[in-house]
Amino acid sequence: MDLLIKGGKVVTAKTTFKADVAVKNGKISAIGANLKPEKDTEVVDAKGKLVLPGAIDGHTHLAMPFGGTISTDDYFAGTRSAACGGTTTVFDFVLQGQGEKMLDAIKRRNALAEPDAAVDYSFHIGVGDVTNDKMLNSMEGAVEFGVTSFKVFMVYDFGVDDGQFFKTLQKAKELNALVGVHAENREVNNVLVEKYLSEGKTDAWWHYMSKNEDVEGEADVRAINLAKMAGTSLYIVHLANKQGMEAVTQARAEGYPIFAETCPQYLYFTKEVYKRPRGRDFVCSPPMKGKPSQDALWEGIKNGNITTVATDHCPFTKKEKDWGIKTKTGAKGNFTTIPNGCAGIENMYPYMLSEANKGRISFNKVVELCATNPAKLFGIDYCKGSLSIGLDADIVIYDPKKSFTITNAKMHGDTDHTIWEGAKLKGYPVATYSHGKLVFDGKNFVGEKGAGKFVKCKTVKFKSPAL
Ligand code: URP
Ligand code: ZN
Ligand code: ZN
Repeated sequence: MDLLIKGGKVVTAKTTFKADVAVKNGKISAIGANLKPEKDTEVVDAKGKLVLPGAIDGHTHLAMPFGGTISTDDYFAGTRSAACGGTTTVFDFVLQGQGEKMLDAIKRRNALAEPDAAVDYSFHIGVGDVTNDKMLNSMEGAVEFGVTSFKVFMVYDFGVDDGQFFKTLQKAKELNALVGVHAENREVNNVLVEKYLSEGKTDAWWHYMSKNEDVEGEADVRAINLAKMAGTSLYIVHLANKQGMEAVTQARAEGYPIFAETCPQYLYFTKEVYKRPRGRDFVCSPPMKGKPSQDALWEGIKNGNITTVATDHCPFTKKEKDWGIKTKTGAKGNFTTIPNGCAGIENMYPYMLSEANKGRISFNKVVELCATNPAKLFGIDYCKGSLSIGLDADIVIYDPKKSFTITNAKMHGDTDHTIWEGAKLKGYPVATYSHGKLVFDGKNFVGEKGAGKFVKCKTVKFKSPAL
């Protein structure tokens, strides 16, 4: 045995119990009471602490070209930051180019990720071209490689129309693959953008107004209907509105395999952030919504209709966010010239665990949402997502007594600000292990650039909302 974590409380998605956790060759080798170290075993005292599986962030955008720039964190900075927030696997988006086969897009991105990633990683495809059969059928190559999830965008100029979306769902059904969707009504969004800009309404508030509750909710309902018509599963990513939450809840009650992800920013902030002096820093899509939507998302978490929580980490610098005032060419900016996305990769597990520590939900629920369910949904539960014998020793030790105030200076990415500045957390991770190796010591990143490995996803056929 290489490592023995002694005396902590082990938290799984279902139960909590006092036990020691032993690690050998990067895998969990034993879980039980009073495990005895061997001669060279490193023993870690976890008395008074929780011992959790490393989180899986199912939604990140590292070094991603977007909005006229590239998101700030590359694969090293992003995964380093992830590790320091207790996340030991990230699912990043490969944006397929026009005329580019999906496997070629994966290889192009993997060449960036492989030498850099400090924790394990996998990919979803961001579908960029399914306009002909050759491109659509290239989903097969991605699945064979071990990338089994495909995100379509109903919004943005590179997004799909309903026909392309439907064909993607049909192809995914054939392959037992999963389609994720960014659901916002592009046409209505475009009409509202034109209207507000023509009225001289240019600040971040109008980003919210042009992508309001109805703009997202309508697209959620349509996406679910398309999945029902195709007879396959659907994963709604970054769900942020009440109408969509209700549609997911109803579809699941009817037995359809519809899954939803939400993000900490929608659980903590509301649309009011767009009225702040630097409201542009919060511009992301979908935008934060009103309190009724936030309440509906928390309710969805409590009643099991939200399946995962992920970050949608996509940071841009303050200077880039300032393009909402003055663009990079010096022209007058507006809410459409602000790159979309916020940092959050280091904040997901600490925030969700803090909410549990404050009594809002159970620690088991957090493990389910942030580790066990993403592992099952994306087909990596054969190696990740829970503390079980034989799985990778991706482990977090969490001190429920440690208070932590988030400041950008304490974060470990390359971003120059955080929307989480000043947020007070109750409890914090004090150690993160990836394959049994310490990568975060409670203060600093102590892992290694390039140590993270690509995780192959298996296909999963979902016939019902149960995972
Ligand atoms: O604002 C966001 N979420 N930026 C990243 C791209 C996306 O749509 O997920
Ligand atoms: Zn999106
Ligand atoms: Zn995203």
